[in-house]
Amino acid sequence: MITALRGMKDMLQDRSKLYEYIVKTCEDVAKNYGYTQIKTPHLEETALFKRSVGESSDIVGKEMYQFTDKGNNDVCLRPEGTAGVVRAYIEAKLDRAGGVYRWFYHGSMFRYERPQKGRLREFHQFGVECFGEASVYEDASIILMISEILKRLDIKATLKINSLGDVSSMASYKEKLVKFLDANESEICDDCLRRKELNPIRTLDCKNEKCQEIYQNAPLMIENLSKEAADDFDKLKKILDENNIGYEVDPKLVRGLDYYCKTAFEFISNEIGSQSAVAGGGRYDRLVEYLGGKASYGVGFAMGIERIMEILSSRDIKNERNGVYICALDEQNLDFVYSLGTKMRDKFKVEISYEAKKLQKHLQIADNKGAKIFLCIGENERANSQIWYKNLDNKTEKTINLNELEKELDNE
Ligand code: HAM
Repeated sequence: MITALRGMKDMLQDRSKLYEYIVKTCEDVAKNYGYTQIKTPHLEETALFKRSVGESSDIVGKEMYQFTDKGNNDVCLRPEGTAGVVRAYIEAKLDRAGGVYRWFYHGSMFRYERPQKGRLREFHQFGVECFGEASVYEDASIILMISEILKRLDIKATLKINSLGDVSSMASYKEKLVKFLDANESEICDDCLRRKELNPIRTLDCKNEKCQEIYQNAPLMIENLSKEAADDFDKLKKILDENNIGYEVDPKLVRGLDYYCKTAFEFISNEIGSQSAVAGGGRYDRLVEYLGGKASYGVGFAMGIERIMEILSSRDIKNERNGVYICALDEQNLDFVYSLGTKMRDKFKVEISYEAKKLQKHLQIADNKGAKIFLCIGENERANSQIWYKNLDNKTEKTINLNELEKELDNE
């Protein structure tokens, strides 16, 4: 039997309903913040991710679904959404046009990681990216947006924030950090030695316990911010305080992707085990220029939909009844029911039964399918141009004339 690949999962019925519910919740909130949808391809040139996510990241170092296509192009299934959206922004010349652009997206991302609870090889993200806005108000709005999404989903998560500094603070900080890493070179792991060359601040993110012990004494970016970066970080904290959003400042939060500067944040849940980050993001003011565009501000986040599903699926979410189930008791009325049901689909969600059955059997099926309105035609109803009508929510039932049907359904 052919099965799905390791780390890749189907979403059937309830799971796909839950996916839809989460995305709808995210979209509703993102739209209130002025974001509109963007769709970009799943497959991009490998160079795009190498340059944006960065050579020092685990994603590029170990996890890319990279291959050569039939045209001999080096391509890669997107491991995350930001890079493709930045490419699209530059390709549409919006960096040159100027102005502020706010987009949201959702869909599959691919990382060749070791599959475990909360970590898949194909997973889904809901994310947003904003271009052309320098103000830290936007960073704050994005964090408030995620807080509102989590509130609507009734999920509690801890917010961790940090500032990675702007270009000027980053350069002088890197020098200090590299000096520290050089002094501890014989003690730190091979991954950190590689990170030291490619992007030294990523060492602070190392999961190796011995490295973490050493980094207790490392210089921290947050103590080396330029005035502008420090002012922005203070303003961010002030806005979060004013909006009653709790947070922890985590000076070692550097994120697993290389493109961030200034604001970096993660939302952590304690309901889902070790893979506990449900959303993460930050500012990336250098990325557009780095990918060949005109220097433009950028800030965004992405949320792991499966991790949210994991939290919600352990809860009892009330599935509201909806739609119509229409059926016949006798064979000779099947065509009539089919034609009536098809016409009703112009306006309503309708499940048409293709087989004649006893009333109780039909009612049982409609109930299992979660229909709200049950419609049935037998010999008597047909002879009198009527239909038997039952609301499966409040259990009221009646026989009505067919010409009243649309009005009755409108009133539900
Ligand atoms: P990220 O932190 O790599 O950021 O991913 C965002 C979220 O995707 C994580 O917090 C997690 O919930 C989920 N996630 C990541 N890897 C997996 C996996 N293997 N299986 C299941 N869920 C996973 C980004 O991707 C950035 N593009 C976010 C961003 C947007 N920054 C600025 N704009």
